[in-house]
Amino acid sequence: MIVNFSFFFLLLLLFISVFASSANAKATVSISPKALNRSGDTVVIQWSGVDSPSDLDWLGLYSPPESPSDHFIGYKFLNESSTWKSGFGSISLPLTNLRSNYTFRIFRWSESEIDMKHQDHDQNPLPGTKHLLAESEQLSFGSGGVGKPEQIHLSFTDKVNTMRVMFVAGDGEERFVRYGEEKDLLGNSAAARGMRYEREHMCDSPANSTIGWRDPGWIYDTVMKNLNNGVRYYYQVGSESKGWSEIRSFIARDAYSEETVAFMFGDMGCATPYTTFIRTQDESIATVKWILRDIEALGEKPALISHIGDISYARGYSWVWDEFFAQIEPIASKVPYHVCIGNHEYDFPTQPWKPDWAATTYGTDGGGECGVPYSLKFNMPGNSSEPTGMKAPPTRNLYYSYDMGSVHFLYISTETNFVKGGSQYEFIKRDLETVNRQKTPFVVVQGHRPMYTTSNEVRDTMIRQKMVEHLEPLFVDNNVTLALWGHVHRYERFCPISNNTCGKQWPGSPVHLVIGMAGQDWQPIWQPRPNHPDVPIFPQPEQSMYRTGEFGYTRLVANKEKLTVSFVGNHDGEVHDTVEMLASGEVISGSKESTKIPSLKTVSASATLIRKSESNTLWYVKGAGLMVAGVVLGFIIGFFTRGKKSSSGNRWIPVKNEET
Ligand SMILES: [Fe+2]
Repeated sequence: MIVNFSFFFLLLLLFISVFASSANAKATVSISPKALNRSGDTVVIQWSGVDSPSDLDWLGLYSPPESPSDHFIGYKFLNESSTWKSGFGSISLPLTNLRSNYTFRIFRWSESEIDMKHQDHDQNPLPGTKHLLAESEQLSFGSGGVGKPEQIHLSFTDKVNTMRVMFVAGDGEERFVRYGEEKDLLGNSAAARGMRYEREHMCDSPANSTIGWRDPGWIYDTVMKNLNNGVRYYYQVGSESKGWSEIRSFIARDAYSEETVAFMFGDMGCATPYTTFIRTQDESIATVKWILRDIEALGEKPALISHIGDISYARGYSWVWDEFFAQIEPIASKVPYHVCIGNHEYDFPTQPWKPDWAATTYGTDGGGECGVPYSLKFNMPGNSSEPTGMKAPPTRNLYYSYDMGSVHFLYISTETNFVKGGSQYEFIKRDLETVNRQKTPFVVVQGHRPMYTTSNEVRDTMIRQKMVEHLEPLFVDNNVTLALWGHVHRYERFCPISNNTCGKQWPGSPVHLVIGMAGQDWQPIWQPRPNHPDVPIFPQPEQSMYRTGEFGYTRLVANKEKLTVSFVGNHDGEVHDTVEMLASGEVISGSKESTKIPSLKTVSASATLIRKSESNTLWYVKGAGLMVAGVVLGFIIGFFTRGKKSSSGNRWIPVKNEET
C-alpha cells in the first residue's frame, strides 16, 4: 500500500512538471542584432509565448554562454517591459565586451520558491533558476571582438616626457601602440607587454568561486616616449592582424608649465544595466559625464584624474572590473587616471599586515581579490610593492609621487603598513623632505581612509588615531598643503588642522578634505531627527567647515601663487564649495553654496555638540557612542526607507547596508 502511494505521488510530480513546462513550451527569446561592435552598443532582447506571466519572471544574462543557470552575470525582471502581461516584450541593454559570447535565458520563478537564505549583497533574494522557459542564440562582439583592444587608460610614468597606456584584449598575441602629433601620421610605435592573472591567484571567495571568477583576458601595458611638452598626441592600440582601436588623443605633460588641473574623487564604482550579486553605483555615470565636460572645456591644457581608492567595487565579481573600465574609458583615454588602493580592492582575511589595533579595521572588503586586479590593471609610477603571503602576485601601486605644474602629488596606502619603521613610512618621509618647493610650492597627499571625518566609520577610529600619531607629524613638519581622503561617501572640508586643532595657515596645518562622494551611495545620514532637532546623528564640530550629502567630484586648479579646490555637485554640475590656499600660507575658505540647494551645514553648525573645553581627547573618539547610536538609527531609517520604496512598484529595493 505504501509502495502504491509513493508510485502515485511520483506520477503526480511528473505530471505537474510536464504540465508546467508544456504550458510554456512555446516561449521563445531572440536577440537583435546578433553581433555588437564594441562595449556600450545595445542589444534588444525580445520574448514571446510566455503563458500566465508572473511579475517574478526574469531574464538572465550569461557570459560565457555555457555558464550554469545560477552563474548569471546579472538579471532583469520581465515586468520592465510594458507588454509583459501579454506574454511578450522586449528589453534593450547596452553591453560590455567580456571577450566571450553572451546568451539570454528566461526563467519562471514563484513566490513559494523565494529563498531568503540565497541573497545578494543588498539582502534581496537571488532569483531561482529551476524553471527555464527559453534561451536565446549567442551574441558575439563582431569580428575580432575577442581581439579588439578595449578599456584604454593612461597614466604618468616616472619620466616627464612619457605617457603609459594600458588596455585589455581576449588573447595574448602581440600588440602595439602607435602615436604621433598628426592624426593621420602615427609614426611612432612601441610594443605592449601582455600579462594576465588566474583564478588560483585570488585569495578568497567570491573572487575565486565559480560564480565570481571570469577570464580577465590579457592586460597590455606600454609607454609612449619622447613626447614634446604640452603637445596633443594622437594614438591607437592593437595590431594589424587583430585590429586597431579608434584613434584617441591626450595632451602631454608640460615640464615647464606652472599650471595644474586635476579632477579628484574616491569611491566611485560603476553602473551596470542589470542587477547583479553586489551593489553598483548609478551616480558614477554623472561623475564621469561632468568630468568629461570639464576635460573638453580645457582644450589644449593637460590635466589628470585621481581616484583615491574603492575603484570599481567589483569585490570579487570580476566582470564588474570590465564594466568599470568600459565606463571610464571616455575620460581615462584622454587624461592620466591615477589611483590609490582602497579596502574594496585589497582587504582579505590573511592580509599580511594586520596589527592588533586593526583587527576590526581590516576585514574581507576586497571580496577575495587581495589587490590582484588592482595591481595588474593599473601601473602607477614608482616601484612600491608588498607580498600577499599567498599565491597571489605582490600588491603594487601602493605609494608613489610625481609633479605636475606647481603641485607635488603624493599617493599613499592606508591598507598596508604605514607606521614608523615600515618601508612606506620611510618613503613618505623621504619624499616629503625632498620636495623642491621652488618648483612645486604646493604638496597634495592622497590616501583612502580619512585621517579626519565627522561621519560614522566607528570601526576605523583606531586607524585614524594611528594616522594622526604616525603620519600627521610628517605632513605638518614638511608643510603639506592639502590632504585628500575617501572611504566616507561624502564631501567634507576641514579647517587647516593639526592635532585636531584649527590653525590659520597651511604651513603647519594642512587642509583636509574627504572626497569619497563620486558614486557609492551607502552612508548613514547626518540630519537631525525630527523629534531631536538639536541633536544631529553625527554632530558637526567647528573643525568641519563644510559638508554635504551631494554626489560629485573635486576640481583642483593651481599655479605658483594659488591652489584652489572646488567641489562640483553631480545634480547640476556647478561649484558648491571652494577653498583657496595661497603660496604665502593663507587659506581662504570661501564656500560658494548654490542658493538652490539647502545646505546641511546650515542645520548642523548651529547644533554642534562638542564644546572646545571638552577637547582633551579626540572629538571623534568622544563621538563614538553617538556614532554607534547613529549607525543603529541609520539602519532603522534604511529599513523604513526600503519599506517605503518597496511599495512604489519596483520588485526589489536595495537596503543601504554596506560595511555595517
Ligand atoms: Fe573604502
